[in-house]
Amino acid sequence: MNHLLSIEDLDRAAIERICDRAAAFEEIGERDIKKVPALRGRTVLNLFYEASTRTRSSFELAAKRLSADVVNFVASGSSVDKGESLKDTVLTLSAHRPDAIVIRCPWAGGPALLPQWTDAAIVNAGDGKHEHPTQALLDVYTLRRRLGSLDGAKVWIIGDILHSRVARSGIQAFRKMGAEVTLAGPPTLLPREAESLGVEVRTTLDDLREADVVYALRMQHERMEQAFVPSLREYAAVYQVNARRLGPRQLLMHPGPVNRGVELSGDVVDSPQSLILEQVAAGVVVRMAVLYEVLAASRSEDPITEPQPA
Ligand code: NCD
Repeated sequence: MNHLLSIEDLDRAAIERICDRAAAFEEIGERDIKKVPALRGRTVLNLFYEASTRTRSSFELAAKRLSADVVNFVASGSSVDKGESLKDTVLTLSAHRPDAIVIRCPWAGGPALLPQWTDAAIVNAGDGKHEHPTQALLDVYTLRRRLGSLDGAKVWIIGDILHSRVARSGIQAFRKMGAEVTLAGPPTLLPREAESLGVEVRTTLDDLREADVVYALRMQHERMEQAFVPSLREYAAVYQVNARRLGPRQLLMHPGPVNRGVELSGDVVDSPQSLILEQVAAGVVVRMAVLYEVLAASRSEDPITEPQPA
């Protein structure tokens, strides 16, 4: 695998391979010296045009645990000509000869443009409303750990599906792994092509108890040009996942950041059913596996070797 641009490019075997490798990396995080030399001498450039807490920190940690050198470039990018500035930025930063560029940007399809300007391996860390493949991989990984397999699991994705790259990648990844996916939310926040995605669609949470996994999403205000719901209070009244709606055996997921009191009530966020912090932790090993996959896997080195002095 040269790049990771979208889940569309991965088949079930590739998703399983990445998850298996991530599982093998778990043990490194338990060592006193949390480092292996697998990517020593390689340079990973994090190029973030959008806010990020979990994704950026876990990509950075993932690269460092594999002993790569990391350069973080945080661009604000609000008033620049987008296409040109992306090209110029990538050309400029490529002069430093990065081996991989991890990019998050507000432009759908942006990461797919990069290979024409750089030899680096490209990893999409979220492009506009399009895709967020490493989020989907870490979600599959988290569920595989919990459930053993996703085959036949009923996953409900709830909320602002329309603007969600997490949903777009997650739907594909969960289905490739054998899960049955249902989308639920206000009609204005469901994509028009929903049925062609091979999912069921609901506009109420009346049958939420059918779900094995309840995956809630944040309202993506930054991607809305108009009001899609009358008010957050009215949205929460109908679509908030709370202790009344969530059954005791259902697993709860959310990609973060959570708006407590909107899509989730505070008590379910903190409940033992919540996998939210497991998702964050999985982000590091899954991103280690992705960086390893694009930078080293073809060389068949063994990544799990003794820690080296820093
Ligand atoms: C998501 C994103 O940025 O797409 N967050 C994340 O990466 N964990 C979802 C969101 O911002 O709501």
